[in-house]
Amino acid sequence: MENSTPIYIIEEAKLRRNLALIKDVAERTGSEFILAFKAFALWKTFPIFREYIQSTTASSLSEAMLAYHEFGKKAHTFSPAYTDGEFDDIVACSSHITFNSLSQYERFHHRASSCSIGLRVNPEYSEVGTMLYNPCAPGTRFGITADKLPKELPSDIDGFHCHCHCESGADVFERTLRHIEEKFSPWFSQIKWINFGGGHLVTRKGYDIELLERIMKGFHQRYPHLKVIFEPGSAFAWQTGPLVAHVVDIVNDRGIKTAILDVSFTCHMPDCLEMPYHPEVRGAELVDLEEATKENTYRLGGNSCLSGDFMGSWRFKNPLVIGQEIIFEDMIHYTTVKTNMFNGISHPSIGMLHMDGKLEILRHFGYEDYRNRMD
Ligand SMILES: Cc1ncc(COP(=O)(O)O)c(C=O)c1O
Repeated sequence: MENSTPIYIIEEAKLRRNLALIKDVAERTGSEFILAFKAFALWKTFPIFREYIQSTTASSLSEAMLAYHEFGKKAHTFSPAYTDGEFDDIVACSSHITFNSLSQYERFHHRASSCSIGLRVNPEYSEVGTMLYNPCAPGTRFGITADKLPKELPSDIDGFHCHCHCESGADVFERTLRHIEEKFSPWFSQIKWINFGGGHLVTRKGYDIELLERIMKGFHQRYPHLKVIFEPGSAFAWQTGPLVAHVVDIVNDRGIKTAILDVSFTCHMPDCLEMPYHPEVRGAELVDLEEATKENTYRLGGNSCLSGDFMGSWRFKNPLVIGQEIIFEDMIHYTTVKTNMFNGISHPSIGMLHMDGKLEILRHFGYEDYRNRMD
């Protein structure tokens, strides 16, 4: 493979550091942490994950199959709506099935008797500011509010599932938990487990692990019979590696210089446009729009035909040159699962930087991958 192929590089040392920390947090908080595939599903790394965690969570048939066949354990599955045609196959790959609504429960629960059954509940409280990521916004399609739950739960319901965080700290969880308990504790004596969803960014620098420990100590004292599960995704792959791209051309319009790269924001870093957030670029400083025409300052542009496939601007130490590496930091979680082949643009390879410094190419993509999606 040529050196110049763009590549996502997951760094084993950083992944193991996150996994070790999560294992420690799980022990200290008396809870189980499981991996949410929606954020990370590079299955060739699963043997490493299995050294630290036991289970995973799926949100579709394919993710449930990945859990069963590649991770080697049935999944904790939640989907906003199961379909008739897929439900039995999902059940076959799942240990836990959570229903998003009472109507889905009514329709399918008799076919899920081999699983532990849960209901997703909506505490009507979330501090997630970006509406795209707020599952408790008015009109949400997620979860059952307390006023809709029957006083006596059906006897086959074992658990509650509640997801209302996004890259959140323990302080947010503390405040949210008050609402969860206020709304749903009347039912806690009828269930065996509670899943507090994802969005707990325990591996972020500064996350207050002691606070989480105290919160969970109190929770276990109040409800000693409840098994607690957290299912973060981002926390596992947080800051575990970059996307390495290259400058292919430099164009200039009205003094605004754009370095066109061999990657695309819309194809290979879609959260940058969707979330939106500005990624960190190694050796460059993000500057305001007014500074776009200044020296050594560039927009970075994708190689798709979408006009908005650019971000900027970044100031570099020196002028950019064709062939130069542009390194986008922290491009593993969500990015690697969300990429697409719009325009047929070459997809970056996926590599793993091992502890001994060796780079293993896990996957290289080519024309066949593009073609096979269009059969
Ligand atoms: C139900 C559910 N669980 C877990 C996650 C993972 O969240 P995160 O990757 O932010 O930890 C999400 C993210 O959207 C989710 O919707």
